[in-house]
Amino acid sequence: MALINAPRGTRDILPGESWKWAYIVKTASQTMRDFGFSEIHLPIFEHTELFSRGVGETTDIVEKEMYTFNDRGGRSITLRPEATAGVMRAALENNLCVQGASAKLWNWGPMFRHERPQKGRYRQFYQIDAECLGIAGPRADVEVITLSIELFRRLGLKNLEVVINSVGCEKCRPVYRQKLIDYFSAHKDKLCETCLTRLDRNPLRILDCKQEECGKIADGAPDIFDSLCDECREHFAEVRAGLERLGFTYTLNKRLVRGLDYYTKTAYEILSGDLGAQNAVAGGGRYDNLASAIGGSKVPGVGFACGVDRVMLVMEEQGCSFGKAPSIEVYAAALDDASRGAVQVLTYELRKNNIAAESDTVGKSFKAQMKAAGVCKFACIIGPDELANNVVAVKNLDDGSQEKISREEVVSYLKAKL
Ligand code: HAM
Repeated sequence: MALINAPRGTRDILPGESWKWAYIVKTASQTMRDFGFSEIHLPIFEHTELFSRGVGETTDIVEKEMYTFNDRGGRSITLRPEATAGVMRAALENNLCVQGASAKLWNWGPMFRHERPQKGRYRQFYQIDAECLGIAGPRADVEVITLSIELFRRLGLKNLEVVINSVGCEKCRPVYRQKLIDYFSAHKDKLCETCLTRLDRNPLRILDCKQEECGKIADGAPDIFDSLCDECREHFAEVRAGLERLGFTYTLNKRLVRGLDYYTKTAYEILSGDLGAQNAVAGGGRYDNLASAIGGSKVPGVGFACGVDRVMLVMEEQGCSFGKAPSIEVYAAALDDASRGAVQVLTYELRKNNIAAESDTVGKSFKAQMKAAGVCKFACIIGPDELANNVVAVKNLDDGSQEKISREEVVSYLKAKL
């Protein structure tokens, strides 16, 4: 029988890589703390409606990419394709934003989208996500964008570009939408099939089409900035001024509309020059109508999510540091079978004292044990002599020197040396 493999678009994060992931998440956790964001844990599956209403019926995610199934109770369940709708649901359900209160929340974990797998694009991928709920003013947008930039600065990512846009609000977007329908209808013959289906349902998405011909037409499309209402225009100006005050550079891109329908006003992405086609390491923006779209009271929000898989690719590509790789510091070896029990006791004592220690559990010869010890800084050797004299032979594996240390003092001796 052939071995069952992992499903297409998923992968195993093995020990050689997992410690690097831990470094990224730890750096994110510290950055979030410094920015006043608290961690939350959310369900990985939610009611399908949360995403169809929250992310939007006409988005690629909802139309073609969700992992949706009926559970045994006949309810339609979806593996989360993103985190924002779930965070908003949790905040509303748990009354985190009642009477004008705000909440700054972050989470990380796997998301699921049935996309065509390629470099930097997986069907199970990981996001670090931050959401600032309950604040309508532009300083919250600036804070969220700053947080994402700071996270990447701490991780050492270079060659990034921050791209921002405003996608308007429920007041000004319908006007812009109609202008786009009028414009693109006049160029119908040149649009790709997907864009033709978008024409009436979601014309803003045509701006985002990656097909060359559609791109050329989209370049000549009416400018969103000419359609923004005063409130959106002012909001965007303040976001830009805030970013400039902080010394950040950014690019304006009127064609940046993002693939999720909940955005209002600010939309942004952070792009890497080292990723190829899937070049966004993070994306986010404001979503002031998401709460009402999922049946809640009006709670404004702004946030971002970064793709851990992609960040990892860029960090490897750019040779960024992941801190120190975990390693065993001390190997305890038994000279003979009678010493194996004492070696296990010593190993546990070292571990209890936060010293990364290893010893043999399969009955290897002394020679094989010392070979395994090769990667460590010290070997602790116990044999009949050591047992009789209540000592341990401590060998410094860097310089080969060896000394006998009393059994009672061996842990403190090693602690001082490591
Ligand atoms: P998104 O742009 O769909 O936004 O995803 C955010 C990031 O997740 C992307 O920039 C990318 O790094 C990563 N990503 C997305 N899809 C994949 C994939 N198939 N494989 C690998 N990485 C991927 C959102 O999800 C919004 N919820 C972000 C947000 C938070 N907006 C407001 N708050």
